[in-house]
Amino acid sequence: MSTVHLISHGAVAEIRLDNPDKLNAFTPEMLESLEAHCSALERDREARAVVVSAAPSRAFCAGADITAWAPLPPGEFARGWVRDGHRIFDRLARLSKPTVAAIGAHAFGGGLELAATCDIRVISPTATIALPEANVGIVPGWSGTQRLARLLPEPVIKEMALFGQRLGAERTLALGFVAEISEDVNAASFALAERAAGLSPMSVETAKYMLHAAVGEDRAAMVEALGGGMVSATNDRQEGVRAFQEKRKPKFTGE
Ligand code: COA
Repeated sequence: MSTVHLISHGAVAEIRLDNPDKLNAFTPEMLESLEAHCSALERDREARAVVVSAAPSRAFCAGADITAWAPLPPGEFARGWVRDGHRIFDRLARLSKPTVAAIGAHAFGGGLELAATCDIRVISPTATIALPEANVGIVPGWSGTQRLARLLPEPVIKEMALFGQRLGAERTLALGFVAEISEDVNAASFALAERAAGLSPMSVETAKYMLHAAVGEDRAAMVEALGGGMVSATNDRQEGVRAFQEKRKPKFTGE
């Protein structure tokens, strides 16, 4: 059965795709599990960093499950498949914790878009990345022309999306798309995640919000979260709430 697991390793949590017979292609059930895991991770204060991995297979993820979306009429395809997937990938991209994608094998289409939701990536020397949607008559739909276009230069995205080019690991490193090439992507990804997990969680979370606000990843929510976090730490907030409860006029000090 295809699924996505959430596995706790103490301070590091692992989100693991598990559909190896179909090259870890994303089914609707997997999307649902991923969304539930993102919600659970936001509530889990023990988990301070996340590794996104996949069961061993010829692909880290070969994209969206073609047999699942192929029968959908256009309206349902747009609403139920593209927009749901997009929303759920956004959820992962906007997680308050640092994330690492362990690209142990090929990352195609939705698999590449999934890797792009992570803060950093590690790739195996034999893995490639590609946007093969034009081979099956569709277009990237889970942020491949949006978030990915922030991470890679436009001509490179065009090479993949318009010319069907696959990029090898060395090229992804030269482009800065991955942090490192490793024979053991899981070990390398966990090492990076452990390092992030040892840093100040509030510093890491706040820096992620600031960077996301700067690059336009959920900018409106990031700005409000940063402002909300700052003002909620003031004495004036406590005084305001106390005054409301005691039905009196608040005495604000500006501190
Ligand atoms: N959706 C559904 N099933 C998929 C899949 C996908 N995106 N990608 C691979 N599979 C299935 C294959 O149908 C095959 O199933 P079967 O064993 O029941 O026949 C199995 O996974 C293995 O794939 P196969 O094509 O035999 O492996 P390969 O190593 O020869 O080729 C790829 C690997 C990735 C080049 C090839 O599978 C491929 O092109 N997949 C589609 C990639 C794609 O277009 N992604 C975007 C989708 S929106």
